[in-house]
Amino acid sequence: MENKRRIWKLLAAGGTIVAATAVAGGFAGGKDLMYHLKNRGALGPLSRDDIEYKQVEAPTPTSKDGTINAQDWAEIYPYITLTMGENSKNDYVISYLEEDPYLVNVYEGYGFAKDYGSARGHEYTLEDVANTKRPHPMANCLTCKTPNFAKMVQDKGVSVYTMPFDEVYAQMEENVSCYTCHGNDAGNAGQLTVTHTYVNKALGDTVMSIDPATMSCGQCHIEYYFTPSDKETMMPYSDIATMTPEAILAYYDEMGFSDWTQESTGAHLLKAQHPEFETFLQGPHAALLNCADCHMPMEQAEDGTIYHSHLIVSPLENEQLLSTCVQCHGDTDMVTFVHRLQDRIVAREKEVGQKLSDFNDALTDAVTAAKMSEEELDAVRKLYREAQWFWDFCYVENAEGAHNSELANHCLDTSEAKIQEGMALLGK
Ligand code: HEC
Ligand code: HEC
Ligand code: HEC
Ligand code: HEC
Repeated sequence: MENKRRIWKLLAAGGTIVAATAVAGGFAGGKDLMYHLKNRGALGPLSRDDIEYKQVEAPTPTSKDGTINAQDWAEIYPYITLTMGENSKNDYVISYLEEDPYLVNVYEGYGFAKDYGSARGHEYTLEDVANTKRPHPMANCLTCKTPNFAKMVQDKGVSVYTMPFDEVYAQMEENVSCYTCHGNDAGNAGQLTVTHTYVNKALGDTVMSIDPATMSCGQCHIEYYFTPSDKETMMPYSDIATMTPEAILAYYDEMGFSDWTQESTGAHLLKAQHPEFETFLQGPHAALLNCADCHMPMEQAEDGTIYHSHLIVSPLENEQLLSTCVQCHGDTDMVTFVHRLQDRIVAREKEVGQKLSDFNDALTDAVTAAKMSEEELDAVRKLYREAQWFWDFCYVENAEGAHNSELANHCLDTSEAKIQEGMALLGK
């Protein structure tokens, strides 16, 4: 227990490796990154202290690009490899466009108005990116789908982002896998590695202050954009303080960035992605828990091995995870508590989303009528851009308020206020 080692490595943009080794009971260089995990005690019946962190030699990679893949690790970490494969069980998809028909109006002129389904498990990333009806001419869409693309960026630099999608896709071997979160010394002593180069570019030293098991998911479950010059994937902030929807909007405004210009309204719009990382980091659990605490249950195999299941689940559907809430939430029925909270947020998302769609119609009418000056219309277009951004930031965050209901409500309130302001300018 005392000699448990946790290593947090960063693969910096240039390929240099900065290592900070955290040793329980004292730290050899770097910051205390597992601050909340120490002295916290066990959250549930199983604790990280019960894990036997193996020190083994990394297997020889069998992949073409030198990444050690899941099969290479299978013999050393059978349970982890097996549970990671079980992410194929999460194959349920709903169409957001059918669920919320107003989206077609709101996203008019952009790919999401044509095809927008919910996400599913990590075992489908490559299949789903190939099959989406949204246009994806360039390889940059592979950023969050496979370790092979992350490796390609490390090896060849940012030029690969603009390579033709099909050409690069043909070289991809695995869905999200060991290398994505652990690099090539994968899993030795639970070491986590940032393999997506843009994380270090955007966050710099901030990375070291974020819990590794949160940062590993934060390589992808984020708001991002493609840089105009290289189409490189980039995070629109530089630290936790600038991860707010206000600061991100200011960042995009300053660089004159928009994802698309809507033909009907003439507005320059932004499409928020899936800001779980940003939303969570500003929420009530940020200093207490990491993503793995709630989404990767600890399990014990028949031979006694204790490990983190790599099948990513909802804490509401897993007894082991639910048992960890008790420590802070007491005997609250967490399933009911969370569902009530989510129901309120979802209802309000629909309400504000419908208003946004009405605002879109009113602005379109005003543009067609051509009675207002371009300057007056631009003032409304700006409000529309902002209203859609704040609403979207909440709508596309996948926990529906469970990660941070205050931020969710704040986004919806802000959006609604901007819709009202814009409608008033249109005389509605
Ligand atoms: C390499 C990028 C990447 C990393 C790292 C990553 N994810 Fe994902 N995740 C995705 C993508 C892409 C999808 C959607 C896959 C699809 O629909 O085909 C997804 C899907 C999911 C889903 C399913 C969502 C749903 O609606 O069913 C969950 C939950 C999830 N990820 C949680 C996590 C957690 C927790 C971590 C960290 C331990 C993590 N992810 C790390 C890219 C990533
Ligand atoms: C305190 C526990 C907790 C922590 C910590 C946490 N989440 Fe969640 N997460 C939840 C809950 C609760 C839900 C809602 C689950 C449901 O609806 O069944 C959720 C939902 C999600 C979903 C949507 C899953 C789906 O099936 O639609 C994703 C993706 C996700 N979380 C990713 C993350 C990431 C990434 C982190 C870290 C940045 C994180 N979570 C941290 C509790 C947590
Ligand atoms: C999406 C990110 C992600 C992927 C993919 C992933 N891991 Fe992990 N891994 C984690 C996280 C997060 C932890 C938990 C760290 C913590 O909080 O203690 C972890 C923990 C571990 C540990 C430490 C022991 C334990 O159970 O906590 C090992 C070993 C490991 N992973 C091996 C692997 C192997 C082998 C693969 C591929 C088959 C893999 N991981 C794929 C994120 C990932
Ligand atoms: C280490 C302590 C701790 C653990 C463990 C914990 N929580 Fe929390 N949780 C908190 C605190 C503190 C708050 C904020 C309470 C408040 O604002 O009144 C909170 C609030 C929440 C909220 C409301 C979030 C919001 O923004 O409105 C949800 C949902 C939640 N927790 C779910 C869970 C679930 C599910 C688990 C178990 C998987 C869990 N929590 C485990 C400490 C914890």
